[in-house]
Amino acid sequence: MPYEVQGVVAAGKGEPVSVRTVIVPDPGPGEAVVNVQACGVCHTDLHYRDGGINDEFPFLLGHEAAGVVEAVGPGVTGVAPGDYVILNWRAVCGNCRACLRGRPWYCFNTHNAAQKMTLEDGTPLSPALGIGAFASKTLVAAGQCTKVDPDARPAVAGLLGCGVMAGLGAALNTGNVTRGDSVAVIGCGGVGDAAILGASLAGAAKIIAVDIDDRKLDLAGGFGATHTVNSRTTDPVEAIRELTGGHGADVVIEAVGRPETYKQAFYARDLAGTVVLVGVPTPEMTLELPLLDVFGRGGSLKSSWYGDCLPSRDFPMLIDLYLQGRLNLDGFVSETIELDQVEEAFGKMHRGEVLRSVVVL
Ligand code: APR
Ligand code: ZN
Ligand code: ZN
Repeated sequence: MPYEVQGVVAAGKGEPVSVRTVIVPDPGPGEAVVNVQACGVCHTDLHYRDGGINDEFPFLLGHEAAGVVEAVGPGVTGVAPGDYVILNWRAVCGNCRACLRGRPWYCFNTHNAAQKMTLEDGTPLSPALGIGAFASKTLVAAGQCTKVDPDARPAVAGLLGCGVMAGLGAALNTGNVTRGDSVAVIGCGGVGDAAILGASLAGAAKIIAVDIDDRKLDLAGGFGATHTVNSRTTDPVEAIRELTGGHGADVVIEAVGRPETYKQAFYARDLAGTVVLVGVPTPEMTLELPLLDVFGRGGSLKSSWYGDCLPSRDFPMLIDLYLQGRLNLDGFVSETIELDQVEEAFGKMHRGEVLRSVVVL
């Protein structure tokens, strides 16, 4: 029997979201239905609402989620009903060139559930990032479920499904931060703070947090920042150089997604340093740089997609570290809310008042 649940739906471009009845089909081959217990509010949900991602309205929003598997379809062996899982939006194929070469985070055949969830009148819903978890149940591909220790509370576990993983992975996987490194993080929202936390976990000796908002710089200290720079009042490139003996940072992580901060990241690195770009720019943004600077500065320039994570490797490990008290994931949960408060949470996110609002179901 299909399930009838309440879910947060974006019906049309720029319209406020609303809670609607959603029909979730029984899982088909390779699919799973998950009882969502918590789902964080992310900028990407807002981009969907505003038509910034595609025009396939109506959307079922929500994609940073944890919950318990309710049912699985034929052929599913990786997860079973009762398993506590974090959902991921890149279930890899294991067979494409990227997967076979050992870089599954670049997989080009990631997949989602084949069936559609619908509104009561049968209108198909597009689930945000193939998840759609602002609902008490959702339908996903079984490969989107990663089993983790159930002792981690859902409001925290779900955050690893997107923004917090992106930041942790930018430091740990893409930037390969290692003990003794100097690291600068530009932009201290949820993603930047997670990068700070990742750098701290990796044993970075100096972690410089850069933001234009003092409220954010205060919070960054709780994730391991050793120095803070307000780039509204201080030139961040100069400040980072000064704090690193004139060299620049070994790893600079950009977590804003704007031309001026890309440029700061580029110039704030040590000659042999690494720039990791995790902030997502908009399509019209461009950046002009002297080619001699591009050529003349060594090191490397990398972008980080979803923290170059491998959910089956990274989610359980990070949850274990959290349960051991070694990873401050609690610090990202600014508030817990109900389904009908998502629109309000978009406003708080936009005004920079929260790191993450998390819907708890
Ligand atoms: N210089 C420094 N910091 C800035 C600047 C700037 N010019 N402009 C904005 N910021 C800061 C904001 O004050 C805020 O603290 O960047 C931070 C951005 O944080 P959030 O808006 O909370 O966004 P977050 O969820 O952290 O995502 C950041 O990473 O994955 C991407 O799509 C995501 O592009 C987004 C980025
Ligand atoms: Zn997200
Ligand atoms: Zn693949």
